[in-house]
Amino acid sequence: MRVVIIGAGNVASVFGRLISAANHEIIQVYSRSISSAQSLGKEFGCSFVDNLEAVDLTADIYILAITDNALQNIQDSLFLGDKLVVHTAGSVSKKVLSNISSQYGVLYPLQSLRKDQSEDQSIIPLLIDANKESVLSIIEQFAFTLSSVVSIVGDDKRLCLHLAAVIVNNFTNHLYTLTAEYCKNEEVDFKMLQPIIEQTALRLRANLPADLQTGPAIRNDQSTLDKHIQALSNHPELKTIYLTFTESLLKR
Ligand SMILES: NC(=O)c1ccc[n+]([C@@H]2O[C@H](COP(=O)([O-])OP(=O)(O)OC[C@H]3O[C@@H](n4cnc5c(N)ncnc54)[C@H](OP(=O)(O)O)[C@@H]3O)[C@@H](O)[C@H]2O)c1
Repeated sequence: MRVVIIGAGNVASVFGRLISAANHEIIQVYSRSISSAQSLGKEFGCSFVDNLEAVDLTADIYILAITDNALQNIQDSLFLGDKLVVHTAGSVSKKVLSNISSQYGVLYPLQSLRKDQSEDQSIIPLLIDANKESVLSIIEQFAFTLSSVVSIVGDDKRLCLHLAAVIVNNFTNHLYTLTAEYCKNEEVDFKMLQPIIEQTALRLRANLPADLQTGPAIRNDQSTLDKHIQALSNHPELKTIYLTFTESLLKR
């Protein structure tokens, strides 16, 4: 397929690399900043523009990989007629594209993507949706060239999965951040925790999370809980989270 990518951030970069690797042809990158557009244009060997009126109208698919707020606004300045257009957002209805084209849908990557990621790319599940069956079929075929995991999910359930991803990924990572700061403050090595972090994530492949729960709260071990809460007296933010999680676990 001939592809135009609108946006030059994390998703645009990672999708662009996948699209090139799948032997599609990226014909143009648009970004509101010409330097970002140029940087991706050079990487993909295609033209680049910073003006929506200059967007190439000969592509088969237009991928809008821009912020959720920008998606709301771009419908006033981008008109693609009958061209197939998709966005990549988890919590934005596909209908936001209805003024841009008569054929629209969603290509949402349920993965944390960073343009500078150097780690071996793990699976990127793609959640797809469209305003009509014929469009869905084209998006599905395209999606399967980028990922082996493609699922048809409407606006409401995509929002649920996005919310769930925020909790298991973003919130967990915030806990790692607070814990790393705590470890630094207490002069203990956060890296010693890497194996336990990885082991729990790996065990989830074959077990329900509720079956994996360990720790003093699930054992109702009040004396250890008291020691931990006392030890957190100089870390009020972490102490609040510790108490909230403990209360939730004690109710199980
Ligand atoms: N990153 C992820 O892990 C991930 C995963 C799944 C879905 N998504 C979704 O994918 C979309 C893009 O995310 P991202 O991570 O690629 O974001 P990003 O790295 O922050 O890039 C956002 C892009 O949107 C452009 N932009 C911002 N405001 C704009 C405006 N008013 N008009 C035109 N362009 C504008 C930015 O241009 P400038 O560089 O000029 O600011 C940039 O090219 C979002 O809907 C996000 O929710 C992201």
